[in-house]
Amino acid sequence: MKKVLLTLSTLATFAMADTKATINDTMASMEKGMNTIQKGFLYNQKATILEGTDIILEANSIFSKVDVQSFTHGSKATQVISNINGNITNNVKELKKMVNANKFADASKQYGKVMNDCVACHTVIRKW
Ligand code: HEC
Repeated sequence: MKKVLLTLSTLATFAMADTKATINDTMASMEKGMNTIQKGFLYNQKATILEGTDIILEANSIFSKVDVQSFTHGSKATQVISNINGNITNNVKELKKMVNANKFADASKQYGKVMNDCVACHTVIRKW
């Protein structure tokens, strides 16, 4: 029993130390996703835009695995952040639909909404 508890607490410590690295890796993917989508628009490459949306959806799924409180330190921002996080998923899915329907002008406006979701969360976290 003692051994199990020890293992559990070691895991918890690891998880905390890892959160910062995980968030940074995730955000690097988010940035890569946004850049990929933009490139797709600029080079008229539908597949590239879709590739970017999938990178973001994959990266964004982290917020269902990691405890948001680990980087908000239990502030009131926690709820706001999880809302924004849900918005990103919906807005990216919507963007994907528009691209699949070849509505590129609408899709590029939608891209602005996704960017706004990124900025909204960072504003709360960094008190910008
Ligand atoms: C739910 C909240 C949330 C959302 C949404 C979010 N981020 Fe972040 N972002 C963070 C946190 C937390 C950090 C790291 C903490 C800090 O910088 O103070 C961060 C940091 C970053 C950084 C800087 C990383 C570094 O090494 O300093 C980049 C780049 C970034 N995010 C890109 C994005 C992009 C692109 C999107 C949208 C597709 C996005 N983020 C959406 C929470 C979020």
